[in-house]
Amino acid sequence: MRNKYVIFIICIVALVIIEKENNIISRQPQQTPDPLSLFNGSILYDNEGVNSTQIVDVDQTGQKHIILLATTRTGSSFVGEFFNQLGTNMFYLFEPLWHVERTLSEDTGIPNSNISSIAYRDVLLSLFLCDFSSLESFISPAPLEHVTPALFRRESSMALCEEQVCTPVQKNVFERYRCRTRRCGPLNFTLASKSCLKKKHKAIKTVRVRQLESLRLLVEDPRLDIKVIQLVRDPRAVLASRMVAFSSKYQTWKSWAANGEVPIDDEEVKRLQGNCNQIRESAELGLSQPEWLENRYMLVRYEDIARYPMQKAAEMYGFTGIPFTSHAREWIIKNTHASEVASGVYSTQKNSSEQVEKWRYSIPFKLAQVVQEVCGPTMELFGYRFVDSEETLVNKTISLLEEKQFNFSYVADFTS
Ligand SMILES: *[C@@H]1O[C@H](CO)[C@@H](O)[C@H](O)[C@H]1NC(C)=O
Ligand SMILES: *[C@@H]1O[C@H](CO)[C@@H](O)[C@H](O)[C@H]1NC(C)=O
Ligand SMILES: *[C@@H]1O[C@H](CO)[C@@H](O)[C@H](O)[C@H]1NC(C)=O
Ligand SMILES: *[C@@H]1O[C@H](CO)[C@@H](O)[C@H](O)[C@H]1NC(C)=O
Ligand SMILES: *[C@@H]1O[C@H](CO)[C@@H](O)[C@H](O)[C@H]1NC(C)=O
Ligand SMILES: *[C@@H]1O[C@H](CO)[C@@H](O)[C@H](O)[C@H]1NC(C)=O
Ligand SMILES: *[C@@H]1O[C@H](CO)[C@@H](O)[C@H](O)[C@H]1NC(C)=O
Repeated sequence: MRNKYVIFIICIVALVIIEKENNIISRQPQQTPDPLSLFNGSILYDNEGVNSTQIVDVDQTGQKHIILLATTRTGSSFVGEFFNQLGTNMFYLFEPLWHVERTLSEDTGIPNSNISSIAYRDVLLSLFLCDFSSLESFISPAPLEHVTPALFRRESSMALCEEQVCTPVQKNVFERYRCRTRRCGPLNFTLASKSCLKKKHKAIKTVRVRQLESLRLLVEDPRLDIKVIQLVRDPRAVLASRMVAFSSKYQTWKSWAANGEVPIDDEEVKRLQGNCNQIRESAELGLSQPEWLENRYMLVRYEDIARYPMQKAAEMYGFTGIPFTSHAREWIIKNTHASEVASGVYSTQKNSSEQVEKWRYSIPFKLAQVVQEVCGPTMELFGYRFVDSEETLVNKTISLLEEKQFNFSYVADFTS
């Protein structure tokens, strides 16, 4: 029964992808995206004059490929900026998998199945290789001649708004995610790809990959030098933050908060538990340092970044083996000591040490208790202290954070 279901889903996903490819092919006969190219070095580095039979040994080039692995409301936009702000050597993408998740969930209703994790992994691989064709096949409406006005949060990626990637403004095209730093027209993926190939390092932030394990083939790919940074946050704070940011999706939680009763076997609670377990399993895998992840995994708590942003940023740079530029440092100084508190939901500017404790006054004790019950092992692993009363929850003198060091290795890479 289960197998039949899985095969059915695979067929649907395949049909969707084929259908999308067909759309593209019929519109642009000269430039056919080849899905097989994902598994082949052939598209790699052609623009830099390296021919297709040559596989570049990534160890020699010193290129790094960073995955910022997070879940929503863990401060990942903020931490992503640490890398986005690096400057000319960095090609940073903000949630490109948004398109993949949307397409897969529209067509199958199951956004987080094993199928999506394969799609996520393969799209990440091609993006790290500066090939946008597989991402294009998930963008709706489909790009025309590799040009789209619809790339999710384009403006959050400095590299996609640079002069070389900027096309002339088109008056009658609406661009929801238009560049802020300069006036640009729709995104031309050919230009994006060229720019990407010129950048030494790549970083992608995603809240969509659920299991570290699902990235294994990517981590082992010899064309890449992957560094995974998993960002975690107190699940009680995450819930409190989501109830504000995604208010309409959290109506059930709000009514429970109002009633003071939480049906512990409700689907919503199970989902929270499932999420916590996936985060913990990924972290346990990473911290256990299996061979394939050796020197490639780092765990960071949002709370530590909020309290010691510069130190943590330096550690992350040290871990990735990328020089920490003064430009990136300045951005951090400017955006962590700023007196203006975040206004927008996705705003990255905040007084971080103040923000970090705010949730304690907004979450009802009852909900904090439920999170503790279903996310207990996750909280213990990351060093988040439990509260046993409303008084403890809101007593500022009691810290809910254990000081904890998570092991990771600096890159002892003096060859490049
Ligand atoms: C890889 O690309 C080369 C050159 O385009 C081609 O000859 C070869 O068949 C491809 N291999 C696979 C597995 O697609
Ligand atoms: C491509 O690179 C390989 C290995 O360096 C070389 O032997 C071959 O002649 C090159 N082919 C072309 C068309 O430049
Ligand atoms: C998804 O993958 C996990 C681990 O690889 C496996 O245990 C599970 O049965 C898979 N689920 C489906 C629906 O195939
Ligand atoms: C996109 O940019 C490439 C490279 O400059 C150019 O050849 C192509 O014509 C552009 N596409 C469109 C639709 O303008
Ligand atoms: C940020 O918040 C902390 C803790 O409330 C406070 O001590 C500090 O003065 C604030 N900094 C600025 C610049 O507002
Ligand atoms: C907060 O906790 C501290 C330490 O346990 C305690 O001394 C203090 O009385 C508490 N404050 C309130 C308002 O309960
Ligand atoms: C971290 O490494 C130290 C020294 O190698 C070891 O004693 C400690 O148990 C490790 N901690 C974790 C959480 O693995």
